[in-house]
Amino acid sequence: MKRLIFATNNKHKLQEVRAALDGAVEVLSLAEVGLSGDIPETADTLQGNAQQKADWVWERISGMQIDGVFADDTGLEVEALGGAPGVYSARYAGEHCSFDDNIDKLLGALNGKHNRRADFRTVICLMEGSLGSRQPKVSFFEGRVDGEILTERHSNGEGFGYDPVFMPDRFAVSFAEMPLEVKNRISHRGLAVAKLSEYLKR
Ligand code: IMP
Repeated sequence: MKRLIFATNNKHKLQEVRAALDGAVEVLSLAEVGLSGDIPETADTLQGNAQQKADWVWERISGMQIDGVFADDTGLEVEALGGAPGVYSARYAGEHCSFDDNIDKLLGALNGKHNRRADFRTVICLMEGSLGSRQPKVSFFEGRVDGEILTERHSNGEGFGYDPVFMPDRFAVSFAEMPLEVKNRISHRGLAVAKLSEYLKR
């Protein structure tokens, strides 16, 4: 079985990706390989940030029996806000803000607006090759889900981030009201991970 490091400190993402890749790939967290610290994400595209995160890990791993490193970056793109918060979704309400702060700012920005269309987009960057080599093979996988921003939070405790206010098309509940396996089947990250999984099975 392939062993890959997932370059994230987000335990929700780790849980989602492990469930989605179940059985196909062994996914190691940063903590499991002894890496800690904030990974920089200063690019102005999802692709750039995903690559920056994967790169950060790639440069810090040596002598491990690992087949590769991958990282994801996700943005919530709201039509009426010209695609914001997009690549700045994590820090929409400011540095070190909470998920709740971001949701409050989003609901405020959409207050009174008729158009509540939005999408989540995830880009995964995979780096493979002998670790430490200067030029890993770099591949990208993208997933997207369209939906609406709700006017208030709907949650039964599932999910994270903007999940309580995002309702995907063809569903009558928010991401935060769905069991993980349902979210994984239709979500931006789930779709990107499914492409990664297909690629890894080749
Ligand atoms: P990141 O840079 O990929 O960690 O994602 C940026 C921000 O998007 C996160 O801090 C979350 O607020 C939000 N986000 C990412 N993935 C999801 C998701 O699956 N549901 C809801 N919000 C998400």
